[in-house]
Amino acid sequence: MEEIDSQIEILITEDGSSSLRRKDLQEGYHSTYGAIAESNHIFINAGLRNIERKSQINILEIGFGTGLNALLTCEFAIKEKQKIFYQTIEKYPLSKEITSKLNYGKILNMEEEFEMLHSINWEENNSLNTYFEIRKTAQAAEEISYKENFFDLIYFDAFAPQFEEKLWQKEVFDKLFLSLKDNANLVTYCCKGDVKRTLKSSGFQIEKLPGPKGKREILRANAVKKNDLV
Ligand SMILES: C[S@@+](CC[C@H](N)C(=O)[O-])C[C@H]1O[C@@H](n2cnc3c(N)ncnc32)[C@H](O)[C@@H]1O
Repeated sequence: MEEIDSQIEILITEDGSSSLRRKDLQEGYHSTYGAIAESNHIFINAGLRNIERKSQINILEIGFGTGLNALLTCEFAIKEKQKIFYQTIEKYPLSKEITSKLNYGKILNMEEEFEMLHSINWEENNSLNTYFEIRKTAQAAEEISYKENFFDLIYFDAFAPQFEEKLWQKEVFDKLFLSLKDNANLVTYCCKGDVKRTLKSSGFQIEKLPGPKGKREILRANAVKKNDLV
């Protein structure tokens, strides 16, 4: 493990992809069993591949961090020729010194896209290619008002509830529920009982799915808005 600044160290996970660890919180950005493997399992396979194709898929990510989920989503968009608009929120943006040490671009053969993800300005829309448009917002996710009925999918990938208490609250999940289209999904690595109860109280229907290596379960929450009973 290499110390990059006084708070963050970089490590190589079991699948060869790098990850970061916040020393002050003793919290990792990804599973040590494999950063790319985990992100693919939770966000791409259980999230993105589960929604039907349409002219444009709108995704909201809570916790941009290293940009790994954004890069994998961009890879999907290019390979599948699927237009994606990606809004991502980050409370603690990482410095260039740190992101330039991550190996995702090299491993995925997407070095140019990875560099662009980190060099584009915050708070403006940028198209990386014909299929992938991104807007990065540097703010605490709990403080934002989201566009209603707009997103097809939410990647909820912030630090765990014990570190971000204000985020994992009913008021925030209420706003996220409203931001989703009918029947759209939120996926997260966190399967804690409190989180499941809070999501349900905001109107989500919960589905537990098998987790990636080292994690028993993950959550997919469905925003069912229309009542079929007339
Ligand atoms: C588990 S890491 C994952 C990040 C990212 N998806 C990735 O693949 O690198 C969690 C991220 O959420 C960010 N975060 C924590 N609390 C947040 C909040 N309240 N609002 C927005 N981002 C937050 C952290 O700074 C960190 O970058």
